[in-house]
Order: sequence, then C-alpha cells, then structure tokens
Amino acid sequence: MHSLEPLFNPKSVAIVGASHHEGKIGNIVVRNIIASGYKGKVYLINPKGGEILGLPVYKSIDDIPEVDLSIIVVPAKIAVELAEKVAMKSKYIIVITSGFSEVGNIDGERKLVENAKKHGARILGPNVFGIFSAKAPINATFGPAEIKKGNIGVVSQSGALGIAMIGKAAEDNLGLSSIVSIGNKADLSEVEILSYLFQDKLTKVIFMYMEGLENGREFMEIVKKKPEEKKIIALKAGRSKAGARAVASHTGSLAGSDEIFDAAFRQAGIIRAYSLEDAFNWVATIASSPPPKGKNVVIITNGGGLGVVAADACEKYGLKLYDDIEMLKKTFEDVMPEFGSYKNPIDLTGQAGAREYELALKRAFEDENIHAILALYCERGDAELEALMNTLIKVHKEYKDKKPALYALFGGEGTSRIVAEMKKNRIPAFGEVEDAVSSLHALYKAYEKREEEKIEDVEMDEAGIEKIISNAINEGRNRLLSHEAKEILRLAGLDVPPFRLARNIDEAVKYAKEIGYPVAMKVVSEDILHKTDVGGVVLNIDNEEEAIDAYELIMKNSRMHVPKARIEGVEISKMLPKGTETIIGSTTDASFGKVLMFGLGGIYVEVLKDVSFRIAPVSKKEAERMVREIDSYPILAGIRGEKRKDIKAIIESIYRIGILVDKFEEIAELDINPLIVYEKGAKVVDARILIKVEK
Ligand code: ACO
Repeated sequence: MHSLEPLFNPKSVAIVGASHHEGKIGNIVVRNIIASGYKGKVYLINPKGGEILGLPVYKSIDDIPEVDLSIIVVPAKIAVELAEKVAMKSKYIIVITSGFSEVGNIDGERKLVENAKKHGARILGPNVFGIFSAKAPINATFGPAEIKKGNIGVVSQSGALGIAMIGKAAEDNLGLSSIVSIGNKADLSEVEILSYLFQDKLTKVIFMYMEGLENGREFMEIVKKKPEEKKIIALKAGRSKAGARAVASHTGSLAGSDEIFDAAFRQAGIIRAYSLEDAFNWVATIASSPPPKGKNVVIITNGGGLGVVAADACEKYGLKLYDDIEMLKKTFEDVMPEFGSYKNPIDLTGQAGAREYELALKRAFEDENIHAILALYCERGDAELEALMNTLIKVHKEYKDKKPALYALFGGEGTSRIVAEMKKNRIPAFGEVEDAVSSLHALYKAYEKREEEKIEDVEMDEAGIEKIISNAINEGRNRLLSHEAKEILRLAGLDVPPFRLARNIDEAVKYAKEIGYPVAMKVVSEDILHKTDVGGVVLNIDNEEEAIDAYELIMKNSRMHVPKARIEGVEISKMLPKGTETIIGSTTDASFGKVLMFGLGGIYVEVLKDVSFRIAPVSKKEAERMVREIDSYPILAGIRGEKRKDIKAIIESIYRIGILVDKFEEIAELDINPLIVYEKGAKVVDARILIKVEK
C-alpha cells in the first residue's frame, strides 16, 4: 500500500474548525464531504459544540479517536497552536488556512510543520483548497460540490486556479481521479503526490499546474519512474529571466529558469502546455483516446479550405498525412462523389451530410492503414445538424477504442452546440481546427516511445582534475585560469589541441616552436577577464620573430590596460583551421542543479539565443536531441554543398561535459567557446570554468 493511501483514501476524517455558518470555508468543506458520498467516519471539531449539517460536533480534538486525515480550517495563529494536538490524532493533515510563507509568515509555517512532525504526521499545504479523491470517494475541498469521476489527476500549486479547474472540468465533462492542491508545499510536494498518482489505478493522465520547484532533482528522479501508460501535461507559469542574478558565463546568462524547466520537461517526457486552453484540450484528448498504432493521419472534411488549414497545421506539428492514393481510393470509393478528392484531406465536398460522414468515418475506422482520424465539418446552414451530431456521436462511440479520432466543427451556434454535446459524451471535439491538430500532436507525443537511456561512465583522469580544482580552491580563486580550464577538459577526454603556459619570453619562443607554427598567444591573468579587449590576444603567429613581437605587445597592452594585473604569462596554443564554431556550457540551477547548454557560436548564441538545454548528465541520445533541437542544426548537418560536420564528436563532447560537471560538484559554471567542429573531429579552442569556493 502506498504511504499516501490515508490521504487519498482516508477511512476517517476530522475537520478542525468545522463552522456552524453556511458559506464559511469550514462549513463548505463539511457539506462537500457529505455530498461526495464519503463512507468513512467524519468528526467535526469546534469549541462551540452543537451540531453542523446534522453531524455532532466535538469540542476538542482530544475527544475523538485517531483518524487518517484531519483538515484544518481555523485562522493561522490557532492552526499553529493546534498542530501538535491534531498531529497526535492524525496520519495526514491538510492545512487549508492561508497566512503563512505566501505572506512572509515563514516562522509560523516552520512551526506548523515542526509541531506536526513531532508526532509523525505529514502536512499538505498550508494555503490549499483541499483534496478530491475518487477512490474514497471524498471531496474535502471548499470548491464546487460536484466533481465528476474519471481518469484525470490534477495537481495544482495555485489554489484559486485549481478551484477554477474544477469548474472548467465540469463544463467540459472531464472526469477526475483526484485533484490536489499543494499550496506552499511546506511538507508534501508534487514529488510525493506524483509517486502516489503513478501507482493509482484510476489515474491515466496527470495535469500539473506549476509555478516553481525547490527540488528539481527529486522531481526528475520521480518522473523517471513514471509508468509508461501514465501521461503528464504540465502548465508552468512564471517566466523569470536569468538576467536577475549575476552570472559570469554565456551559459549562465542564457539559462533562465523557464528554459531549464522546458529542458527538464523534455528530458522527463512531460508535455508542456503554454495555455490553460491547450492544457485542457490535450488532457481531454489523451484521457479519452486510445494510443495511435502508427503515424498515418487521415483528414475527412466537407470543405476544401478547412482541409487545407488542417493539412497546414499537421505540417506545422509534424503529423504525417497518409498519402497512398490507391489505398485511400479503395477505402473511400463508395463514399466519394465523382468530383470528390482522394488526396488526403479526403474532401467529401459541400453536399456531404450525416450519411456521408457516417460512411466515411466507418471506412476510416476500419482501415488498418489509417492510424488517426481528424474529422472536420464546415457549417452549411442547413437543417441536418441534429442528424450529423447524432451520427458523429454514435459512430465515435462504436469505434472509439480502435484508434484516435478528433473532430473540429467550424461555424456558428449550430456547430458550437454539436461540439458541446460531443464533449459531454467525452469525445475530443473542438471549434477550431488548430486545437484539434495540436491535441492530436499532444496525443502522439504522449505515446512517443522512450527507451531507457543509460549513462555509462567514461574514463577521465579524475585525480588530475581534482588536483587543479583543489589547487584553485586553496588559493581562494573561483575562476580557473585558461590553461587550467583547458587541462581539465583534456583530462576529461575532450580533444584539446596542444597548449602551454609560457612564463617568460624564452619559454614563449620555445613552446611556440614545440607546438609548431602557426600559433596563438593569449595573456593568462586572473585579473584580466576580457583578453581581446585589452589587446591580450595575438593570432596567426608564423615564426620566432613574430612570437617575440607578440609576447612584448601582449605584455605592454595588458600592463597599460590593467596596471595592477598579476600576469602568470601567456598561453601558447596551436592555431586551428576554420571550422564551425559551437558552444557547450554548463551552469548550476538553484532547483535542478547542473544543467548543460549547446548552441552554435557567434551570432547564433549571442543574438539569436539559439541554444538547447538539458539537466546534466545526459545520455548520448539526449545529447543528440540537444544538437538536433537548435534551429541552426542544418548548418551542422550540411547545407548548400557544405559537408556534414562531425556531429558524433559534438555528442561525445556534450556527453563527457555532462559527466564531468555531475562528478565535480565544485564546477559551478563552464563554457567551451568555441568548440570548433570539422568534418572530422571537434576541438576545444577556449574554455572558462568557475568553481564554487566556500567563503
Ligand atoms: N478548534 C476548532 N475550531 C475552532 C477553534 C479551535 N481551537 N477556534 C475557533 N474555531 C472555529 C470558529 O469558532 C469557527 O467556527 P464558527 O463559524 O462556527 O464560529 C471556525 O473555527 C472558523 O474560525 P473563524 O475564526 O471563523 O475563521 P474563518 O472561517 O473566518 O477563517 C480560514 C478560517 C478559512 C482558515 C481563514 O483563516 C483562511 O485562511 N482563509 C483563506 C483560505 C484559503 O484561501 N486557502 C487557500 C486556498 S486556495 C485559494 O487561494 C482559493
């Protein structure tokens, strides 16, 4: 039995602060519990005693036996005072009361949890609207009394929105397995709730409304354990930008919390919606549709225009229109008028009514080569709408388990009425073509196969890396010098062309010769951040004479611009031929920990911000998805006669960086900028590493 069973399926509940006054929250909760047909024992607590809604009232929590669940609906101060006593009697406590950390009362919230934990009780909330669970069944919320049962689990961080969702679900006739308000998450968070819903037989689709996460890593861990058949749609609000905090790397400046959430969702197989409308459409579709068995989509329409709109939308969402005209002809031959078109979209033409739709839909449902149906209808202003509505509902009900079928009916009041009626029958029907297509896309995404991708350890010189890091920490430096950063990457197994730190002019000449001309020379100083800006970089040095000139110039420039700079010397490295510049980076997110970034260098990263993120470490498959995801991917894949770049080498580099930053907690930020990619190989040219120094 799951440890949260007493919360979702309590055998007994106590309402602390049950109110005698109709309309007050403490009264509504009692009314809803009774109205939901709850079969367990209900104890009402209020010092005034008496009776509420026909149930006896106990004057103190001391007077009742132990219960699975208590619901606290007294003001914050009293809630904190009572928490310990309530905890002695309960396994779980839902604290509906507001006025805690959300208004700065952090101390009160801490005490509340401490008091409860003393006696092993767990808290949901505070600042929540309660819980509905179809399993019990129990509606212990102060929202609407009637909640339809079904297979959708809702987890909401916002209370008000959660209550509104109950209303919206009722309007769309969506059935809920549970709805949980997690509020301030002082104790229980979405992580525990998800772990319950994953094993709950009633729940098929989980809809999460999220604002923030403190425990991103734990969240990722639990979502990784999601059973294949459960699907998650998330709506994440609050798009904060990274600019608010001080960051010293490209990666850090591009990694806003929203980008990180996006990456985490992709990695975890969570489908992200950006509007409530989309979220509800997608949840409804997934909740009521079987999985598609293949990619072939067929559009059936009575209007060419609507068909084209749908076909365009399918292209936008990457849905495949079934295009075997011979087969389509066979399937739809006896439905089509002479002048109809067999090219998908199947255009039944304007004269098509209930009978034609019935036949066409049946053919599409019965044809094994067709895997999903988009049926569209343009209102014609005739009297056949009633018949059409009945037909669509009848045929859908008969075949609905065979394959997904979604409907978009466009027009006026008549079609709106059909859509509403179809929704009442839990059929995915929409007034907009785009909504139907995006919902079908969400359904396909939900059933995308996700194989377990292993992250196997790679060999790297960990002792060598540790030595460089601890040396910097001992010296109180949080910024590694360029040659140190490059050395770490070399030890981690990346391809770093030869480089040396020269501490004087003689060494500079010697090392340049050893490495082989042409070389590049860069000043190495902890105090000089922007080497190029101070004239601290000379490229394409071809011989000894040029090397001497370059050394002297770099020293002069550096001393002139940053007189007090402590200069370690210059870094001599091999000049590399031109290739495609990319950037790999890592930063530390407050919630998700180490994250990875990939993009093309130069304007692609700086102006277009065309980058992809993931939570580190990543599998090679995930690294590949990161590379393919950026808009400028065609540049790497080879366009306009250019040869394909060594994408495998990029993937290997990302993979190793993921493992490196995961292993070495101290690496707070890292930029490889650029990593030059060739037709064969990818080489590190410049690198920056910031380490966490405990002050
Ligand atoms: N033990 C038990 N009952 C008590 C005790 C006690 N020690 N002391 C008082 N009570 C009773 C009161 O007598 C009262 O009952 P009555 O109406 O029969 O007299 C009942 O408990 C409630 O106490 P009140 O002082 O009347 O408090 P009120 O009902 O006004 O407010 C509440 C309590 C609802 C918890 C309020 O403090 C609150 O937090 N409201 C916001 C709730 C909220 O919005 N939560 C977030 C949800 S999500 C969203 O945003 C929509």
